[in-house]
Amino acid sequence: MSRLIQRSLRQDPPRALRGEGIYIHDSNGRTIIDGSGGAAVACLGHGHPRVLEAMRTQQERLCYAHTALYSCEAAEELADLVLGDSPGGLTHMYLCSSGSEAMEAALKMARQYFVEIGAPHRQKFIARRQSYHGNTLGALAAGGNAMRRALYAPMLSDAFSHVSPCYAYRERGEGESDADYVARLAAELEAEFQRLGPQHVAAFLAEPVVGATLGCVTALPGYFPVMRAVCDRHGALLILDEVMCGMGRTGTMHAWEQEGVTPDIQVIAKGLGGGYQPIGGILIAGRIVAALREGSGAFLHGHTYQAHPVASAAALAVQRVIRDEGLLANVRTMGTLLEQRLVERLGNHRQVGDIRGRGLFWAAEFVTDRATRAPFDSALKLHDRIKEAAYARGLACYPMAGTLDGKRGDHVLLAPPYIVNAGEVEAIVSRFGDAVDDALAGLAA
Ligand SMILES: Cc1ncc(COP(=O)(O)O)c(C=O)c1O
Repeated sequence: MSRLIQRSLRQDPPRALRGEGIYIHDSNGRTIIDGSGGAAVACLGHGHPRVLEAMRTQQERLCYAHTALYSCEAAEELADLVLGDSPGGLTHMYLCSSGSEAMEAALKMARQYFVEIGAPHRQKFIARRQSYHGNTLGALAAGGNAMRRALYAPMLSDAFSHVSPCYAYRERGEGESDADYVARLAAELEAEFQRLGPQHVAAFLAEPVVGATLGCVTALPGYFPVMRAVCDRHGALLILDEVMCGMGRTGTMHAWEQEGVTPDIQVIAKGLGGGYQPIGGILIAGRIVAALREGSGAFLHGHTYQAHPVASAAALAVQRVIRDEGLLANVRTMGTLLEQRLVERLGNHRQVGDIRGRGLFWAAEFVTDRATRAPFDSALKLHDRIKEAAYARGLACYPMAGTLDGKRGDHVLLAPPYIVNAGEVEAIVSRFGDAVDDALAGLAA
């Protein structure tokens, strides 16, 4: 077996040898549609010539220079491009190497901001159950992904607490209207502020579209504005984690553009660099940076590889391609087609309880019975069986267990690259639908 620690220590995966467009060629001689861009990462697909060229040029000039001494052009241009029109009042960018690192930076930035403005008592963070903000210990403590937290619970800080997500499919009461459900969630957040003491809360954190943990769950209309209002009432920040749903994935550059709110700090990664290099970052409101600038004069945080030149050059090229090739329009058009085809193929399926998402970010949640919404026995690992069946049919997708509570429930995500075309969407849905049938037939047998 491999000496590399793989996701499973019992079974080595095939090797990915080569990629082009939405396809990956593996060491078993198979050509696979990358139907989820890995974990919603490969937004331009593989081998985009402009990104490769930008990386090559940067590598030939300079691969690394320490940020204690130097800035670099690629990182400066990336910040200028992403923040060009100060979206939502976000004026500054901090760059690091992953989504988890970016989340750590967001938490520390929020904490330092309050210390700088004379409110050091703000040291609590409220996030949501069934969310994911990363795997480093701070980000893991922030997240509400019960399955990923359990083993490490004794090591997780009690600075974090959790309220309910906006998960209408399962958590809206019977007969409860959307408005009443949203009001109930706002009241729950208000109660959590009161429990902690509103003066102690630094920020509320949420994914605008919940990614892997719940499977592309969008909030109900009006949810984010009322949650923002609770934060504003108590002087706490709103941190939006767009690591998975951001940078164009939902059809707008930022997922919050469709929610009627703007964050104080936004966390980004995956689609920022499209997997061409490891890169993540935070976008920060001007007043927060001003407070640090006028206060201690520095962000008390840092990483060896922050604002890495080659990673920045890759992300800059990815972001330029998204703009130059009008790919957000393609995300919206192909996203509508993907939704239509998924609903046609699986909308009446007895074991598909819900199909949901936005842009090119879709998931199906599986149930034994659509009326009771009962999940499958988790020992059956239906999500994994669908992944295996899909791979056998030439499609890579992103499966997840524990939809309801970290233990029960199965869903599978699709998040194709923004360059996907109509024929490829048809192929993805056809292979996915057949894989769902194969996996369920396997269970029945
Ligand atoms: C919403 C969200 N936040 C944070 C992270 C952590 O990102 P990374 O795996 O790059 O550390 C992820 C990764 O899946 C994510 O989906």
